[in-house]
This record gives sequence, structure tokens and C-alpha cells, in this order.
Amino acid sequence: MSAKDSEKRIPQQSEPVCALPVNRREALAIGALTATAAMVRPMAASGQPYAIDAQVVPPGFMRIATRVNGQEVELAIDPRASLLDVLREDLGLTGAKKGCDHGQCGACTVHFDGRRIASCLTLAAKADGCDVLTIEGIVGPDGALHPMQQAFIDHDALQCGYCTPGQIMAAIACVNEGHAKSAESIREYMSGNICRCGAYLGIVAAIQEAARKMERA
Ligand code: FES
Ligand code: FES
Repeated sequence: MSAKDSEKRIPQQSEPVCALPVNRREALAIGALTATAAMVRPMAASGQPYAIDAQVVPPGFMRIATRVNGQEVELAIDPRASLLDVLREDLGLTGAKKGCDHGQCGACTVHFDGRRIASCLTLAAKADGCDVLTIEGIVGPDGALHPMQQAFIDHDALQCGYCTPGQIMAAIACVNEGHAKSAESIREYMSGNICRCGAYLGIVAAIQEAARKMERA
């Protein structure tokens, strides 16, 4: 890489770029790359960040202010970016998983203004002014596990664990919605969350136990 190329280097997608200072030259480089990459290749393969420090809003990006796990976050985002990609790639919150990226598996489930959503199908731009809660945000202030997390452990409700953050976020919502009154209802309202390991018996049992604890709390 020549010295000139090195000067133009922009943060790579795998780096948590939000906290990095972005100078004017880098911002212009990002803008130019955005315009070019959009025409020739999918964003996920382009190596460009989905979001950067909100102090610099390069061409093609937009500023949003959101709350993630109770913390105020200001970002300049690519308006095409999914909430899942911004959470994982730019905020370093990798609890929500990318399973299908098509809204069919539930691995990416997070809470959005108190409702469960598939973050792979939600534009990050929609988070402007909203509250986002991920699996990283549900532990108690003293670090204690959420009752749903503990119940998943106690009931062996996982095998590989890939679907588990999404299952737990959906399960908490299922209880809060009042849909955890019976095993049948739990199966119905958790049907959007796929477990390829087939841990469904444990998942239903865990939700029933956590529901009792959550309702008492
Ligand atoms: Fe979002 Fe599968 S990754 S539903
Ligand atoms: Fe492996 Fe659910 S525990 S996919």
C-alpha cells in the first residue's frame, strides 16, 4: 500500500468505528466509497462502515439519535443499513445474531420501544428517537441475570446457543404481552424463533418458569 493509499484508508467494517474520530479526508473518502459501492456490490461485502461518529455526516449518510440499552447514542448512518448491522458491526453489540437476514428465524430479535422486532428487517434509520433493548441490556444493575436467562440455563434450553439471545428477547416479550399463560400459547407466540438444535421442550419450560417469576416481581 502506498503512502497516499494509506492516508485514504477508512475504518474497516469489523472495527467498532463509532468511537473513532473521523477527519475530513476520511469522511470524504467514505462518501465517495458509499456512492461507488452502492452501484456495484452489496453493502455487507463492501467493507465500509454502516455508521460513524455523528459529528461528521458524510454525503449519503444521515444523523440519528437513539437510546440503546438506556444509553444515548448519536450516529451518522448509511440510510440503507439494518438495525442489526449497526448494532453488531458498529456498536459492538453482537448478542443479536444474524441467522437468515430475511426475517424468518428470529435470531436477531431485539426490543424496539418495548416491542419485539426482527432487527434484520428494521432500518437503523427508524431508531431515531426510539429505545432499543438488546440481550446485553437485560441484566440487572448488579449484574444479576434476568429471570429468563436463568430459566434458560436451569432448563437446559439451548444447545449451540446461536438462537438463544433472540429466543430470550422474544420470550421476555411473550411474557410481557400476556402470551405465556400456557405451553400451547407459548409455542404459538414463539413460533417466529427457530432453534435448529431443537431445544423447544426446554425453551417452553424455561418460559413458563420465568413467567411465574416475572409476574411475581
Ligand atoms: Fe433476522 Fe433471521 S436474522 S429473522
Ligand atoms: Fe442451537 Fe437453538 S440452541 S439453534
